Amino acid sequence: MEKLEAALAKAREMRRAALGAPEVVREKVTPAGAPSIDAWTSLPEVTLTPGKALRHRITALAGNKDATPYDMLRSRTIRLMKEKGWTRLAITSPGAACGKTTVALNLALSLSRQKDLKVMLIDLDLRRPSLHRAFGHLPGRSMHEVLDGSAAFEDVAVRMGDNLVLAMNSTAASHPAELLQSVGTREVLDVIERRWQPDIMLFDMSPMLATDDNVGFLANVDCALLIAAAESTTLSNIDLCEKELAQLTNVLGVVLNKCRYPDDSVGYSYGGYT
Ligand SMILES: Nc1ncnc2c1ncn2[C@@H]1O[C@H](COP(=O)(O)OP(=O)(O)O)[C@@H](O)[C@H]1O
Ligand SMILES: [Mg+2]
Repeated sequence: MEKLEAALAKAREMRRAALGAPEVVREKVTPAGAPSIDAWTSLPEVTLTPGKALRHRITALAGNKDATPYDMLRSRTIRLMKEKGWTRLAITSPGAACGKTTVALNLALSLSRQKDLKVMLIDLDLRRPSLHRAFGHLPGRSMHEVLDGSAAFEDVAVRMGDNLVLAMNSTAASHPAELLQSVGTREVLDVIERRWQPDIMLFDMSPMLATDDNVGFLANVDCALLIAAAESTTLSNIDLCEKELAQLTNVLGVVLNKCRYPDDSVGYSYGGYT
């Protein structure tokens, strides 16, 4: 672990020295009017039963010690994002099954335990959408239909409590790369942000190495977290993806998931935090 962290830090340092720190600027949407909390509470509510949470490794639901790693990630993420005035965070990984959806949902739940934060989690892994599985909730319409203009956000969005909104997919999109890179997607996200005024929008994305889905889309976010799976993601793939991600947006850090510690059942750690 320490070797991996040191190697990552070194690679990052060398890259910075060679390229200079990338700065991605996204046009900011000026919120119009007061926060529409009524709109949030009028959405249908979904629940996460303790049994489902356990099965899907959702440990951040209650604020007990199992939530600690996600609470730490939450605090660092929100501090950095507030400092920079950022609201949109993408969660991606080099390959499939590194734990993007697991981390995204846990992070969203941890953030939403701060009742003064309005949090939105949007499933944009449009090839293998999976956020709905943890809830056993199959939305009538999918988030990809909101992006292509054929469904309203209200017909897809659900809430947990008063300050967490989730937008899921029940089907895969037919042309995810084109859709995610489209002007229409950018405009729809701007309208959602303007109308619903979340403090933070989390995007559960597809993996970076398998497709080009994220390439055009990442201009729509302020920053990203890269989730790597200890023992299955190679160091060279972490480095390659971190490098590519850094060309597209601001990299908040690499989360090393699925670590096996004898006394740590959460199996989760930071692989560097810039
Ligand atoms: N820290 C972890 N330790 C063990 N298994 C995990 C961990 N995080 C996620 N998983 C499991 O790995 C699988 C893939 O996780 P998922 O979040 O769906 O990945 P992705 O969204 O990157 O495809 C799931 O079965 C999930 O329960
Ligand atoms: Mg996923």
